[in-house]
Amino acid sequence: MKVLVVGNGGREHALAWKLLQSQQIERVICVPGNGGTALIERCQNVSLRVDDFEGIARVAREEGISLVVVGSELPLSSGIADYLQRQNIPVLGPTQAGAQIEASKSWAKELMEWAGVPTAHSATFTEVEAAKTYVAQQGVPIVVKADGLAAGKGVTVAKTVAEAQGAIEYLFGDHFSPIVIETCLRGQEVSVLALSDGLTVRSLLPAQDYKRIGEGDTGANTGGMGGYAPAPVATPQLMEQIERQILQPVVNALRARGIDYRGVLYAGLMITPEGKPLVLEFNCRLGDPEAQAILPLLETPLEELLLACTQQRLEALPPIRWKQESAICVVAASQGYPGSYTKGYAITGIEEAQNLGATIFHAGTKINPQQQLVTDGGRVLGVAATGEDFAQATAKVYKAINCIHFEGSYYRRDIGRTKTDSAKSVP
Ligand code: AMP
Ligand code: GLY
Repeated sequence: MKVLVVGNGGREHALAWKLLQSQQIERVICVPGNGGTALIERCQNVSLRVDDFEGIARVAREEGISLVVVGSELPLSSGIADYLQRQNIPVLGPTQAGAQIEASKSWAKELMEWAGVPTAHSATFTEVEAAKTYVAQQGVPIVVKADGLAAGKGVTVAKTVAEAQGAIEYLFGDHFSPIVIETCLRGQEVSVLALSDGLTVRSLLPAQDYKRIGEGDTGANTGGMGGYAPAPVATPQLMEQIERQILQPVVNALRARGIDYRGVLYAGLMITPEGKPLVLEFNCRLGDPEAQAILPLLETPLEELLLACTQQRLEALPPIRWKQESAICVVAASQGYPGSYTKGYAITGIEEAQNLGATIFHAGTKINPQQQLVTDGGRVLGVAATGEDFAQATAKVYKAINCIHFEGSYYRRDIGRTKTDSAKSVP
């Protein structure tokens, strides 16, 4: 079968790479893909925008695509799944209504409240003064969030009232209204990515993501600077509790609203010091870079899982098989990220890194007209490896990442070596 993957990040490279490990997959087409997907055998990039639904449907028909997998939230929240379903093209990813779970935090909060899903207490505001008054009443630390999609830049964990008020002004000034203000939670974060077929859910291995740019969880929030799986904090008992108290009730609540959610339901959770899981956010797609740590451990052919979702037969699927190993992914970013950075620097050393047993997932790369691989984004590459344990996987990844060079390359040296703990970032 042929699969079309929509997106251009490290996650989409990992999806294409994993799909092509299966005998059943003849070819993968990436729209638009990146420098990494351009180099995989039996994989082809097609240069269309991810919001060109008509173009994507045309390619899917012309190429005889059996499944479209949408990697990123932007096209989902503008209705790509609805469009493709209307054209009878099978698609993995929720409809626009379902994608609201990520695209509107207030909508997601309301859904959680209705379903009795544990999350931080919150309030929604459309006016600066009311929001500021609320912060003054509640005190700090407090969390200020854009309601809508903000590419990882919409959340401020404020330690002072002035910081919270600055975030409120910034968000309203940048037209990010409404905003959500919520209680600051402490504990360990974990990402639980699950598949849903609209009726039931199946969790993938739990992962941990390092969101801050600086070592020791300092500095600005990013899309994610590295990750590992399986996250030991999410024990089998806790995973069972997360499915029972959070994931299944959410799918039931979506269904009660007439939303047939067939895709990835990603719960960003805080595990409190007492061991209680609380929802920080939901996403409607795989995490990036969580996918680059989880997918290398998957033994069940990926397309079997994805088709079980789109064909609504997840319940009958045998247990998902995983390698009994640990996986790590470390992101190499452009100097300046998550702020401004320069693109177009030549990248070298990928083959040497691969020879050390690492898998290199491209994120912000492209092949330039001179046929050179160059940087083309903030997060440039994800270097991933598996090992018998985290120590082995980590050693492999850091040896490999040392081989890779581009001007201004930056990566965190503590991925897999420290556990992310939000208590550190909020004194
Ligand atoms: P979100 O996009 O909602 O996941 O927020 C991004 C990051 O901000 C999370 O991964 C947390 O590190 C932090 N965060 C979000 N909400 C809270 C909260 N209520 N308490 C503490 N930290 C939070
Ligand atoms: N790594 C966090 C995300 O994909 O949203």
